[in-house]
Amino acid sequence: MGIFAALLKQIIMCGIVGYIGHREAYPILIKGLKRLEYRGYDSAGVALYCNEEINLYKKKGKVIDLENEANGKNQGGTIGIAHTRWATHGEPSDVNSHPHSSNSGNLTLIHNGIIENYATIKAALINRGFKFHSETDTEVLVNLIEDVQNQQQCSLIRATRIALNQVVGAYAIAVFDKNHPSMVVTARVGSPLVIGVGKDEYFIASDATPFLEYTKSAVYLEDGEMAIMDLDYGLRVKTIATNKVKDPYVTQLQMDLASIEKGGYEHFMLKEIYEQPKSITDTFRGRLLADQGLIKMGGLFEYTEKFMKANRIIIVGCGTSWHAGLVGEYLFEDLARIPVEVEYASEFRYRNPVITSDDVVIAISQSGETADTLAAIKMAKEAGATIFGICNVVGSSIARETHAGAYTHAGPEIGVASTKAFTAQVTVLTMLALELANQKGLISKSKYHEHLVELESIPAKIAKMLESDAKVKYIASIFKDATNCLYLGRGYNFPVALEGALKLKEISYIHAEGYPAAEMKHGPIALIDSEMPVFVIAPKNGQYEKVVSNVQEVKARSGRIIAIVTEGDETMKDIAEFTIEVPDTHEALTPLLTTIPLQLLSYHIAVMRGCNVDQPRNLAKSVTVE
Ligand code: G6P
Repeated sequence: MGIFAALLKQIIMCGIVGYIGHREAYPILIKGLKRLEYRGYDSAGVALYCNEEINLYKKKGKVIDLENEANGKNQGGTIGIAHTRWATHGEPSDVNSHPHSSNSGNLTLIHNGIIENYATIKAALINRGFKFHSETDTEVLVNLIEDVQNQQQCSLIRATRIALNQVVGAYAIAVFDKNHPSMVVTARVGSPLVIGVGKDEYFIASDATPFLEYTKSAVYLEDGEMAIMDLDYGLRVKTIATNKVKDPYVTQLQMDLASIEKGGYEHFMLKEIYEQPKSITDTFRGRLLADQGLIKMGGLFEYTEKFMKANRIIIVGCGTSWHAGLVGEYLFEDLARIPVEVEYASEFRYRNPVITSDDVVIAISQSGETADTLAAIKMAKEAGATIFGICNVVGSSIARETHAGAYTHAGPEIGVASTKAFTAQVTVLTMLALELANQKGLISKSKYHEHLVELESIPAKIAKMLESDAKVKYIASIFKDATNCLYLGRGYNFPVALEGALKLKEISYIHAEGYPAAEMKHGPIALIDSEMPVFVIAPKNGQYEKVVSNVQEVKARSGRIIAIVTEGDETMKDIAEFTIEVPDTHEALTPLLTTIPLQLLSYHIAVMRGCNVDQPRNLAKSVTVE
């Protein structure tokens, strides 16, 4: 295996969780892993310290498989670390699962990220007599720490710091030494890590959800920091590079437990679809003051001038967030007359783009941790651009890397397929575009006011649409066995077509393509036959007549048409096999409505096909490696 292939084999992103205190660690860790499973679910493991011994259980598969593995075995102990893994290359296996132990068995470590120079370190360690059992870079790191400890006869804290200074890559780690069982050492560069601070107890996790029921006090580690949780000496934070001691900054979490539980719904995705009237309201709460004819966005305030004078706006994102960015392009160009480019973060960062200090880069990310988006904004920042973030997760890496921004406030999104985060992102983009149009004097006061009132009415309209879910479910039952689907839209609803197709692919594994309706005749039309479902997004305003012509072209080739239309549309009813109605609204706001039935449709089809809706195969919610 070449070095490159070997490196790829190690690329992982994962969820980590740890506990040190006075409670039984095992149930906390298992519950925590389940909450972090969205970060990866190929394999899982747990290490518990009990009676001077480490009990280590690891299993390929989901957390439930790990539980089965640990059943009937010693689950005691008040200290433990655990891990859920997502491998991009190489088969997940029991032996590659974390935690990993050092050769002496004294150190146990979990890791989220990648050690890029692991091969060189591994070779040096092998020369010094170390043995390796797995293919992971993590096993290299834990042994490197042990090697430093052996050579320098130093504490775990010092050895970890020295070892990390030799490492190139991204990581969030937690490590403990069974000879000093009152302490866990953690550190992060690139990958997220948060510490829950209770009374004489500490929690460690990739996000705060594993410890919400125990404490609301949290310390988000900054990049390049390590934290030592010691039952005798408390919590200490210091920098990895310089050993500088820092005051831990304790924040109070606003999240509650109910927001991360299913609340009676069969799946998180369904819950999150149904939450959209609330999540959109939460997103504009305090910002959209329709009665006063005002939009007040704290994040925009200081940077309005930058936006007004911007040469162009570059929007970067991945997946669904990129689709929201495309809606943003229509909004900013149409309403605020600012040129916009929408870029896949992964392409943007590597193609030597021309960036100037007159550019404003908007980074869109639900998790705020997507590696490509993070790298793209770091690059644009170095080139002098102003960076504005639209993130859902408060305190996330992207949120912290930006000059300014606006949180979406959609609440935790746990289903891997993004739903409420998308509509919240589009809501923020709509407010931004409207406000810039207003400031630039491009929209009359009455039109501006009309848009604000209309935006405010969107949650109620979505709530009304959700009442007709039974029809969407029926349509899903008709098309659940399709092998290919086409999604067509124009203008503001072209990105909705892309998003509709992505949703179906992600969770039902049916191949689907989104296309601008007019482009269909340049290729996809060749696919249309009497077996092909074609979902057409055709609200009354926009380029309705043109879409109707495109639909006729599908019909002429016997395609099966399902049209998303404005209430009362009789024309389309005559042409399409099925129509799904959405309430009337301004053209610029239609994506917020037309997206909803497509989310529901994908959801029902996936359920009917027996797919794991919340954790679709091969995907992860937070992609923290490139
Ligand atoms: C993953 C998720 C998608 C998400 C994308 C971008 O692929 O499965 O649902 O849209 O990452 O994530 P972000 O957190 O940056 O929005």
